[in-house]
Amino acid sequence: MSNQTVQPHQQASSLWSSRLAFILAAAGSAVGLGNIWKFPYITGENGGGAFVIVYLICIAVIGVPVLIAETMIGRRGGQSPVGTMRSLTESEGVSRGWRAIGWNGVIASFLVLSFYSVIGGWSLVYIGKAAAGAFVGADADAIGAQFGGLLGNPWELLAWHGVFMAIVIFIVAKGIRSGLERAVNLLMPLLFVLLIAMVIYAMNTDSFGRAVSFMFSPDFSKLTTQGVLTALGHAAFTLSIGIGVIMAYGSYLPKRVNIAGTAMTIAVIDTSVALLAGLAIFPLVFSNGLEPGAGPGLIFVTLPLAFGKMGGGIVFGAIFFTLLLVAAVTSAISMLEPVVEWLEEHKGVSRVKGALFGGLAIWFIGLGTVLSFNVWSDVHPLGFIGYFEGKTVFDLLDFLVSNLMMPLGGLAIALFAGWAMKREGLSDDIGLRGGIYTAFMAVLRYLTPAGIVVVFLYNFF
Ligand code: TRP
Repeated sequence: MSNQTVQPHQQASSLWSSRLAFILAAAGSAVGLGNIWKFPYITGENGGGAFVIVYLICIAVIGVPVLIAETMIGRRGGQSPVGTMRSLTESEGVSRGWRAIGWNGVIASFLVLSFYSVIGGWSLVYIGKAAAGAFVGADADAIGAQFGGLLGNPWELLAWHGVFMAIVIFIVAKGIRSGLERAVNLLMPLLFVLLIAMVIYAMNTDSFGRAVSFMFSPDFSKLTTQGVLTALGHAAFTLSIGIGVIMAYGSYLPKRVNIAGTAMTIAVIDTSVALLAGLAIFPLVFSNGLEPGAGPGLIFVTLPLAFGKMGGGIVFGAIFFTLLLVAAVTSAISMLEPVVEWLEEHKGVSRVKGALFGGLAIWFIGLGTVLSFNVWSDVHPLGFIGYFEGKTVFDLLDFLVSNLMMPLGGLAIALFAGWAMKREGLSDDIGLRGGIYTAFMAVLRYLTPAGIVVVFLYNFF
């Protein structure tokens, strides 16, 4: 049973102070650039409604089960992902090979933050641009040139990546209760207010109805196999599962909290934010005659164009990019946490030093991403392998984390919880009973791994 394992964090003062605190922190981690930037543009690229339905199914079949398993593992182990996996492999009497889950987590969190933070820096730049009226009256070329100008300037990118990391380091250094918890208590309600403000603004355009039908009336003829797989991959990405972040957050979760219900709440919040972000963005896109399938440039090029043409565009442009910043910060702090928890535990450094050194190292590694957009834009380290042709350092990092470490981590977590762990006490730990528990375990053991394997293989073949 779980009480045989070491529980270093189970002293009340180092835990989340309430179920709500954990929900806000985990939802803060889940709600990020993925919801506000990626979800709308992949929905746009894949034709809308039908894609949204498939995405919702994937959240239920892959996202939520791994979220539950990862939280449960984290709470049982009560340590950094590395320490947690070490003590669980011992207490469960299973192969040490499973410990790779812990290392994968700490290393992937480290790497993902190195590029996530660079994009977080863009949102800082764009708050300034929007507020200063830089988009007013600008045409598509001018706005494209502004984005290109930012990407072309390594010093500017590096500086804003630094400011973003400084915010993240400051919050994480202050610890679970006075750092992370206070930050999410403030930022998550702010995020909702900003998001609702954006949706209300969008409702006042003439294209709100068109956006609603774009997102919710399914046309399955527009859905491709590629679209289904994108939905599956994004369902895992958007819930932040697979790389030990949720495991680290789960290690601070008090025993009495029901994990299944909590995970469901987090998934509902995350999904609602993604859908609301779509409802905020598409009306602006449509009412200005712009392209919903514009790809990654949707929010940094298409949207500024809309803000530049619309009444109130200065205020709502600034609100939108602040929303993006808030979403990115609450995700970024969750990526630093496994690294800091591991440094504290295994290297014996204080939290403040761990946050500082870990954060500085991440900032430095972020240089690879910064340079990928300019000086190194023609550097393709693995270009000699056909599959990686034309991929920059940033592309490779993103590929490594998003296409390898996240899915493999998620798969290993599902298999570990579904097959390797003893069943005894599991139902209580998860907080599901009877038939629902049985059904859940069946999904976790078969459907979830099968889904992940399909997406994973598809990414290569
Ligand atoms: N869920 C985050 C988003 O939607 C991104 C993300 C993926 C993430 N994996 C993560 C965040 C791990 C924190 C930890 O933007």
